[in-house]
Amino acid sequence: MKEDGNIPTTVLCCVGTRPEVIKMAPVIRALQAAPWARCRVLATAQHRHLLDQMLEFFGLSADIDLNVMTANQRLPELTAQLIVRLDRTLAEEKPDIVLAQGDTTTVFTAALAAFYRRIPFGHVEAGLRSHNLASPFPEEANRLLAGHLSALHFAPTPKARANLLREGIADERIHVTGNTVIDALLTAAETSTPIGVPLDPSRRLILVTAHRRDSFGEPIRQVCTAVREICVRHPDVQVLWPVHPNPQVRPVVESILNGVPHIHLCEPLSYGPFVTAMKQATLILTDSGGVQEEAPALGKPVLVMRNESERPEAIEAGVAMLVGPNHDRIVTEAGRLLSDPVAYARMARGASPYGDGRAAERIVQAIGEFTGKISKS
Ligand code: UD1
Ligand code: UDP
Repeated sequence: MKEDGNIPTTVLCCVGTRPEVIKMAPVIRALQAAPWARCRVLATAQHRHLLDQMLEFFGLSADIDLNVMTANQRLPELTAQLIVRLDRTLAEEKPDIVLAQGDTTTVFTAALAAFYRRIPFGHVEAGLRSHNLASPFPEEANRLLAGHLSALHFAPTPKARANLLREGIADERIHVTGNTVIDALLTAAETSTPIGVPLDPSRRLILVTAHRRDSFGEPIRQVCTAVREICVRHPDVQVLWPVHPNPQVRPVVESILNGVPHIHLCEPLSYGPFVTAMKQATLILTDSGGVQEEAPALGKPVLVMRNESERPEAIEAGVAMLVGPNHDRIVTEAGRLLSDPVAYARMARGASPYGDGRAAERIVQAIGEFTGKISKS
């Protein structure tokens, strides 16, 4: 690696929600260690408590905090606020490059604000596509729009790269890096942090998370009644569900599942305890993007409670299965895995199609090359 010039490159890393902190933390750490980079962390705080919980876990703090979250926020207000406040920040900070990860409103607005200021934008976790603008909503649009405003695309897998090439993105702008979630997971999995919830060690554990907008209303009700029925049909299991604070989710989950024997509803877990819960789980039910990537790397079968996924690699490898937010399919497929050891073993093989734990290193190398700070390897 050769350094070129003494003025550091200022990289503004934007984070807004829980998964963005988890997936950007390895990149922020790698930038902080790079002698040619000056890393600044901007929290939009689209999430407040969930964001702070993760910043604390990773030992990070925000240099700039826009503190935009309001209760039950709507997309138009959130988007409008963010564009204006991000623009003001970019004018003050004058970064050389802006980075954001994924497909949230924070990411789309960061890409657009950088574009308006003619500052290059680097998209971490680029190229994921469900090929359906309506689902996941609004994430498919967010990542498409952010992608087309990006100067650098950090695609986690060859499939993500192929999606970008099909959309006319120049090959030299795309770097296949792996997903930074695997970097974060492998580091966190080295330590065994207690979950902090009194579970029964004699029962098999099913870990559940759900939060998607597509599932608000009837679908999340079906997920809840399916989880309840699984507990009735399989008397040796217990469920741990750290409940997302979204007001469209939490009251529904609590009204159906509070007080049901062997179902533990808890506050969102910090990353260390959540990784321990994934490791202890027999089975994971989720509509989360990140959990779909982590479960296969830990060898845990994952039922994806969505109708489609922008993460086809694990499904094609047979270690994840789409079941929709559909009561009958969730009960049937969970039942099969809980009672058929052969079906279980087929899905519990352990595969990591999303990375090898070195994604952040590759991303920082590519940024150094792009900004002329280090020569091409
Ligand atoms: C957001 C992202 C979604 C991502 C998810 C990760 C958008 C449109 N959605 O969804 O892509 O998968 O984060 O979890 O960008 N709330 C709190 N405290 C918190 C966080 C949220 O009370 O720490 C409540 C607030 O009432 C807030 C609401 O949840 O208004 C919704 O938050 P929002 O970020 O708009 O949507 P999520 O469903 O969390
Ligand atoms: N996660 C966590 N604690 C929890 C639930 C999830 O640390 O109580 C982590 C999980 O390991 C994954 C990420 O949060 O890395 C996923 O976040 P979420 O499901 O909110 O968002 P998505 O990935 O769907 O965008």
